[in-house]
Amino acid sequence: MALTDFDLALFGGSGDLAMRKLLPALYNRERCRDIPSTARIICIGRHEWSREAFLTEVEKNAKPHIASGNFSEAAWNAFCARINYVALDAMNPASYQALVDAMRQETTGINRVFYLATPPSLFATVCHNLAACGLATPNSRVVLEKPLGRDLASAKQINEEVGRVFAESQIFRIDHYLGKETVQNLLALRFGNVLFEPLWRREWISDVQITIAEELGVGNRLDYYDTAGALRDMLQNHLLQLLCIVAMEPPVAATPDAVRDEKLKVLRSLKRFTPHMLVQNVVRGQYRSGYVDGVAVPGYRKEPGANPGSRTETFVAVKAEIETWRWAGVPFYLRTGKRMADQLAEIVVRFKSIPHSIFAQPNSSFQPNSLIIRLQPDEGLQLNLMAKTPGDGMRLRPVELELDFRETFKQPRMEAYERLLLDVLRGQLTLFMRSDELEAAWEWVEPILNYWEQEGIEPMPYTSGTWGPAAASALIGRDGLQWREESLPEEL
Ligand code: BG6
Repeated sequence: MALTDFDLALFGGSGDLAMRKLLPALYNRERCRDIPSTARIICIGRHEWSREAFLTEVEKNAKPHIASGNFSEAAWNAFCARINYVALDAMNPASYQALVDAMRQETTGINRVFYLATPPSLFATVCHNLAACGLATPNSRVVLEKPLGRDLASAKQINEEVGRVFAESQIFRIDHYLGKETVQNLLALRFGNVLFEPLWRREWISDVQITIAEELGVGNRLDYYDTAGALRDMLQNHLLQLLCIVAMEPPVAATPDAVRDEKLKVLRSLKRFTPHMLVQNVVRGQYRSGYVDGVAVPGYRKEPGANPGSRTETFVAVKAEIETWRWAGVPFYLRTGKRMADQLAEIVVRFKSIPHSIFAQPNSSFQPNSLIIRLQPDEGLQLNLMAKTPGDGMRLRPVELELDFRETFKQPRMEAYERLLLDVLRGQLTLFMRSDELEAAWEWVEPILNYWEQEGIEPMPYTSGTWGPAAASALIGRDGLQWREESLPEEL
């Protein structure tokens, strides 16, 4: 669907996210000729830069994030030509006049989008100021970047304040994991095939593991990260959204509210934490020094500028349960961490063991079937089966059926932000969180935050370049299970 002409006002336009992700994503769509010729991008920041000075920043900080194979001088020049820069103090209503002057006043046939890549503390003020200067109209859209609050109360407050200016149908709450190709493919796998859905339930599935592991440390985001931690940064949003897509009932259609209604039901069915569960089912960790890919890296508390007594977690593992007929009794293990042994994001759906072996091999030598949905680094599906080894005798061993999306579809992929920006510009809300979903996610994780805070729970140390604290293995081990990397089959 071709895009309507637009004015995109990007608050935080000179920030890290804009430079690393948003501007490169928009450039890529420019290169693919998706952007209407007269569309404008107005970057907003506090620095008193001229347009030329800002474009020098874009050249320096955004251009290096464009894959070399995707670079075209002509597309880049066309892209830069539509960028403008406005210096503005977001807190000061008077300074919005500069933005009013930069945006087209005639909005017929033009979508007006405000993208707030700013700290959430500014969301309400920016929205109110946009309303006060007449820029927020019933047809405009607002995009909110995470973190969307730091607890249930602050998330509710953001929803309320932003909701005073914009209707729910105008609000796009970003979770970039929902824009990843494999997440869409998970929907295709579940609801475009008949094969898995009958098995997608407690009778056949033993457990589900969702892992987002990063090799990177906190990088230059310590100021933000130290006040957030892995639970707020990754679990409350990305991991729970993935869990929703895996566990939701088939929506009646792939329309925004049909999908979001089903996701909401999953969040509302998550078993609430009892005091016992908070102790047993949650692991909080923090990386110490170690080696990642052979390179020595410092511990979190020794990162430049870090508080040497910081209790911020860089790792979290949680056992979640969904109290529905489909999922009762099936544990969902979620974990994420920085400075881990590998850079990967994957969902592992493990099926139950065969009930009885008719072969000479004992049951225990049969690896249960599993389906691995890989989001990163490469995108694909892997189905683990048992098969006979060639030759005489009947000896079975695990084998892998692989589907590599890059190989199968030899066509360019879209980065998550490209897809999500296109959806915003089209007004397509399916891949964005609704206010009730956001609040339901906070409601579920908040007891963990309170428990850590009230009990002064210290994160457990783990060596950089490993899979996290030993307690994470114990968490899943108590159920007689292992994380995938711990259970990889030995050669038979
Ligand atoms: C962001 C987090 O939302 O996701 C970061 O704030 C994290 O801390 C990033 O590194 C991971 O995203 P991706 O797409 O690189 O896996």
